[in-house]
This record gives sequence, structure tokens and C-alpha cells, in this order.
Amino acid sequence: METTLIILKPDAVQRGMMGEIIGRFERKGLQVVGMKMMLISPDLAARHYSVHKGKPFYEGLVRFMTSSPVVVLALRGVGAIAICRKLMGATFGSNAEPGTIRGDLGVSNSFNLIHGSDSPEAAAHECELFFSAGEILAYERAVEGWVYDLTGGTPE
Ligand code: RTP
Ligand code: MG
Repeated sequence: METTLIILKPDAVQRGMMGEIIGRFERKGLQVVGMKMMLISPDLAARHYSVHKGKPFYEGLVRFMTSSPVVVLALRGVGAIAICRKLMGATFGSNAEPGTIRGDLGVSNSFNLIHGSDSPEAAAHECELFFSAGEILAYERAVEGWVYDLTGGTPE
């Protein structure tokens, strides 16, 4: 089981896309184990996007991410990191595949609606950055045995 960090960026919140996007993850079968609305501070944005520091789009990216509230989610599932990246689609809305969140819901390259962790290391680091202890909850889903085949002892 993996837990990945998703951010519904300011454009998603402002455009009323929260339900649409969260619904896609829920319908896929991912379990929401953490969720909150927050305003990202410049310091948190800098820590989150430190790998992009110095790139031409960095300043604009930090300004965008801190401009208006976001919703952060922790999503759990087998292979959750890769599944979420697939559901999100390519980085730029202008060329993201139809059927994906970015491909269906936006046209902009920098206002691209959503962030998702891109590796297990990033997921662990980002969940810790955005959630404090106790904010990510382990709980049993009543539907678990219908979302996954659990008959072999592990979720398939
Ligand atoms: P994210 O980190 O937000 O999940 O997006 P990503 O992995 O698909 O893309 P990444 O390369 O990590 O870039 C981070 C965010 O920076 C903005 N960006 N703008 N104008 C540009 O050339 C440009 N390149 C990147 C996007 O908001 C992208 O999501
Ligand atoms: Mg990225």
C-alpha cells in the first residue's frame, strides 16, 4: 500500500473543480486518508518545490501556489503514486490526454489544477510537509473487499 500527496491547486478550488477531481480519485477506488483546505505559505511552497528552484518558472509557480487556498489530500492504495499520476495526465493542460484530469479540465500549462507526488520518496516527504501527526488516518473501508480481491490475503 502506498500513500501519495495530492494538491488541488488554487485554480482547481477557484474554478469549482474540487468535487469533480476528488470524485475521480474516489471512483477509481483510492482511499482518502487525509484532507484539508489551507493557504500555502511562501516558505512551504519553497520547500515543496525546492527541486525547481532556479528554473525560469519557479517564481511564478510559488506565486501561483500561494495566491489562494488549496486542498491537500493523502490518498492510499496499491500503486497509488503511479495511478494518481496517470489520472492527472501530462504536466501541461494544452497537451494532456483526454480522459485525464488535466486533459479534460484545463488548457493552461502553468495553471494545471493538480499536484501529485512522483516517487515513493517524494510521497513520504510531501505527506510529512503538508500533514502533521494524526492528520493522516488509518481506517477500514467497508467496501475494501470489493475494491480489491482480498481472497489471497493481499490486495489484488
Ligand atoms: P506537479 O509537481 O505540480 O505535480 O507537476 P508535474 O510533476 O507534472 O510537473 P513538474 O515538472 O514537477 O513541474 C511542477 C509545476 O511547475 C509548473 N510548471 N510550469 N511554465 C512552465 O514551463 C512550467 N513547467 C512546470 C506546473 O504548474 C507544474 O505542475
Ligand atoms: Mg512534479
